[in-house]
Amino acid sequence: MKIALIGGRGRMGSAVAEVLRERGYDFFVIGREDDFSRYREANLLIEFTNRDATVSHVKQVMEEPRPYIIGTTGLTDEDISLLKNLSTKVPVLLSYNFSVGINVLLKFLGDIAGVLGGYDVAIVEKHHRFKKDKPSGTAKLLLSAVEKGTDEPVDVHALRMGGIFGEHTVIFASSGEVIEITHRALSRRVFAEGVVRAIEFIKDRERGFYTMGDVI
Ligand SMILES: NC(=O)c1ccc[n+]([C@@H]2O[C@H](COP(=O)([O-])OP(=O)(O)OC[C@H]3O[C@@H](n4cnc5c(N)ncnc54)[C@H](OP(=O)(O)O)[C@@H]3O)[C@@H](O)[C@H]2O)c1
Repeated sequence: MKIALIGGRGRMGSAVAEVLRERGYDFFVIGREDDFSRYREANLLIEFTNRDATVSHVKQVMEEPRPYIIGTTGLTDEDISLLKNLSTKVPVLLSYNFSVGINVLLKFLGDIAGVLGGYDVAIVEKHHRFKKDKPSGTAKLLLSAVEKGTDEPVDVHALRMGGIFGEHTVIFASSGEVIEITHRALSRRVFAEGVVRAIEFIKDRERGFYTMGDVI
């Protein structure tokens, strides 16, 4: 297996590169200044860049498809349709959050919201000051999980401060009690280790569209 790590010199890409190196994976980095057509030398692509770059890359990969793991956030429904189209040819795994903790939470949040029907619900996310999209992709995932269990309006608040790797809190409140469920990433490594789990999952798949929910 030869991996092309697209955006591998960025904050998240560097964390993935470090873990891939430690685990002995064969990979090379494609950055903004590199020739993207080199992706053809790989048989697995991993991307952490930005929305525009990712969409442009997905369109090019359509010409000669490769299994693709995407962690870039801020994609539109139209972009995701493009990925689903590619996934009819190769396995594609999209996750806005590669941590096990968030993905476990996503499995249960709808049930919790359903049982707590009538409680006020809010989501608060905090990230480092350089994060571009707002609210985070993870906050959007948490929102859609909560909405599976309640028709109550859900407020989503985004804070951009200092060097926070990623913190998400879902708050349920009635007049008598408050429940806060918080996930805090202690480093980008937790996401990078999730990417390795995604690699091991996707390498045996033929085609199809997957998320980290499938992996865990
Ligand atoms: N799914 C998750 O678990 C998770 C976790 C954290 C972050 N993210 C997401 O990952 C993405 C990257 O975040 P980040 O904090 O790592 O950003 P970043 O530090 O700005 O890194 C982005 C990288 O993409 C590269 N890039 C930009 N355009 C490119 C192109 N056309 N071809 C190849 N490389 C290109 C940049 O290269 P230059 O350095 O040359 O500009 C940079 O190295 C964001 O969407 C973020 O929200 C996802």
